[in-house]
Amino acid sequence: MLNKGCKKYIPFSPVSLPDRTWPDKVITKAPIWCSVDLRDGNQALIDPMNLEEKLLFFKTLVEIGFKEIEIGFPSASETEYEICRALIERNLIPDDVTIQVLVQCRPHLIQKTFEAIDGAKNVIVHFYNSTSTLQRKVVFKTDMQGVIDIAVEGAKLVRELTEKEIARTGANIRYEYSPESFSGTEIDNAVLICEKVLETLGATPENKVILNLPNTVEMSTPNHHADQIEYFCRNLKHRDCAIISLHPHNDRGTGTAATELGILAGAERVEGTLFGNGERTGNADIMNVAMNMFSQGVDPGLDFSDLRRIREIYEKCTRMTVPPRYPYAGDLVFTAFSGSHQDAISKGVKYMQDSDSPYWEVPYLPIDPADVGRKYEPIIRINSQSGKGGAAFVMQQSFGYELPKAMHPEFGAMVKHACDEAGRELKPQEIFDIFRREYLEIKYPYNLKQYKLYEENEAESDNTVVHFEGNLRFRHEDHQISGRGNGPIDAFFNALRTIGITDYQFVSYSEHAVGAGADSKALSYIQLRDKDGKTVFGAGMDGNISLASIKGIICAINRASGEQKKQ
Ligand code: KIV
Ligand code: ZN
Repeated sequence: MLNKGCKKYIPFSPVSLPDRTWPDKVITKAPIWCSVDLRDGNQALIDPMNLEEKLLFFKTLVEIGFKEIEIGFPSASETEYEICRALIERNLIPDDVTIQVLVQCRPHLIQKTFEAIDGAKNVIVHFYNSTSTLQRKVVFKTDMQGVIDIAVEGAKLVRELTEKEIARTGANIRYEYSPESFSGTEIDNAVLICEKVLETLGATPENKVILNLPNTVEMSTPNHHADQIEYFCRNLKHRDCAIISLHPHNDRGTGTAATELGILAGAERVEGTLFGNGERTGNADIMNVAMNMFSQGVDPGLDFSDLRRIREIYEKCTRMTVPPRYPYAGDLVFTAFSGSHQDAISKGVKYMQDSDSPYWEVPYLPIDPADVGRKYEPIIRINSQSGKGGAAFVMQQSFGYELPKAMHPEFGAMVKHACDEAGRELKPQEIFDIFRREYLEIKYPYNLKQYKLYEENEAESDNTVVHFEGNLRFRHEDHQISGRGNGPIDAFFNALRTIGITDYQFVSYSEHAVGAGADSKALSYIQLRDKDGKTVFGAGMDGNISLASIKGIICAINRASGEQKKQ
């Protein structure tokens, strides 16, 4: 049996917390954000960033608004050390930004880390050791006391070196401790080791220590992670001496959810990366969590208004790619192909224009694409799944052509047919070309070669009468025609009657300007009904508004004749 293999996995044992409170809470304020792109993200890259790439990434993180940035693991390699030195020596760290450096609880590495941060104004020294049941068993082969001893010894040295450094330079150095693999550690052991570290570091409510609780390998549903966080917050003796930080990974694909529920459960700080880069399936994506808050009316305190550019820099520096369906940042996330979605979106966009609503009320689009710099790309894209209104929406959005509603099914069907034939999506220009070919360029079998329109006041009635005179070619023969009426359309219809064109009844007309200034033209849409009651549409464009309508009528008659393609 195929699924027998699953029996080798040990199910996660959730913390018992029947009186949990987090499910009734909502996120009303942003946590403290800490980017770990340059450390956790970087260490997971096939080709880690070079110095220039790290500096560019750091600058971008600062521009986004991060105030805490883990820049690396300076004791781990010469490259990491050099990057830390470059940031400090080149004065690239703004005064309101704190750099964070990671180090294991090992004395020589801690020493080296303090050498690396020499001269920095604001630093978080982040030290960690692994505490999980599994790692104690298979990696360290030690009991919990052994792991506590490592953490306490590490904390003692970090404190000693920090106090010396503060006395020497006056730097602002804070502490962060991570019981690595927190979520795989018996919860009371996690609380215990963190209490020992707080005591050793001399944490106070004024000098809080960051306790970072990594979901190093995501092992449970996000609700169980939230229970772990709430349990930890409730049971930590000196809760007021700690800032509780999350560090979710994404092994189950629920890093964002685990972060959000962890915040509800009492965490005040979040470590993560942009676009979720990081070990294996990555870290929690801070952009995703922040934009989720933004979409709920909560200011995340980070600026993703130029997400396209941020994504470009990310892709350039990490050589990773953001998939097309990636929340907020993917190429396709503000795109609707399906007809019913397109219809609802175009109604929503119109509602926004007409109602002046202060809120974003467009179905199928959770946020305004403009808020992440996606102002100029088409929301509605056309393939064979698209509906009748989609092509009209593209004509309106991309070219300013306001096709009347009655015309949408006819034009939509033409575009759908073209999509089916092409077997792919049609670009806005291709849709426009269909419109041009099928309406504006139709000049057969009727073609107006010359015309004159003038007005006359009838003396006896004082009414204004419009006269049309023109040369209308039918197939290859020219006809001189003339007619009068109460307007140009009426006059032209009367002129057509003189050569026996009587089969068409005028139904409706609409027009608008296309372009601006001296180049502006009138575009008219004409709906006629033929003698069998069938509706036919035409469109005409001209600098002269009356001629645009007349061209529209000729277009409709040509299309009704079925001869237009024989030209
Ligand atoms: O995922 C993790 O546990 C880490 C720690 C070093 C904080 O990255
Ligand atoms: Zn991590």
